[in-house]
Amino acid sequence: MTTPGTTLAGALGAYVHRWIPGSEQVALLLHGTGGNEDDLLPLASMLLPGASVLSLRGNVLEGTMPRFFRRLAEGVFDLADLALRTTQLADFIRAAEGAYRFDAAKLTAIGFSNGANIAANVLLHEPGLIRRSVLFRAMLPSEQNPQRNAVGTRVYLGAGRRDPIVPAANVERLAALLRDSGADVTLDWRNAAHGLTGEDVEGAKRWLTGA
Ligand code: MLT
Repeated sequence: MTTPGTTLAGALGAYVHRWIPGSEQVALLLHGTGGNEDDLLPLASMLLPGASVLSLRGNVLEGTMPRFFRRLAEGVFDLADLALRTTQLADFIRAAEGAYRFDAAKLTAIGFSNGANIAANVLLHEPGLIRRSVLFRAMLPSEQNPQRNAVGTRVYLGAGRRDPIVPAANVERLAALLRDSGADVTLDWRNAAHGLTGEDVEGAKRWLTGA
């Protein structure tokens, strides 16, 4: 296990991260606000056992809390920073593909909350880069000019009916935009709030294994 972090040059140095080699499947882990690169490791083991893991720490700080892009208030995003960080994450993935010698077509993004939001924005603005995603409690980060060619992309959205942070209409809109762009989207609702539940994990697992 390594944490190359900021000592690596260029795009790869944009995030403190862990690369844990495993099978040719690669879990790209993106934590929620205040998390770090260790948070979702247990989730990756449950969802993609044996996969290689590429786990990032958000490179924006809100107080002491790492995030993947700036926000002005809860659910109100700094769109210029969002655009910049979306490109930065896409560049990081391309750099990591070369540095760690994996095939980006075998990448599954697993994101929670803020991490799911940046992943959703990469799906909308850099279509084709991430082919499979499991996004828990995601919301539509921005309506700005999504690309329209995400054919071949599969997305699982795990949403909570009692989520106080993500309005139902917002996640429905995210699902619709992704579908419009050509992605195959499963929107799975649970009677849950913002936090992850065992049922979320089971639902995502069924989707990933086609069970
Ligand atoms: C965000 O800021 O991305 C969302 O409000 C979710 C979160 O609280 O991280």
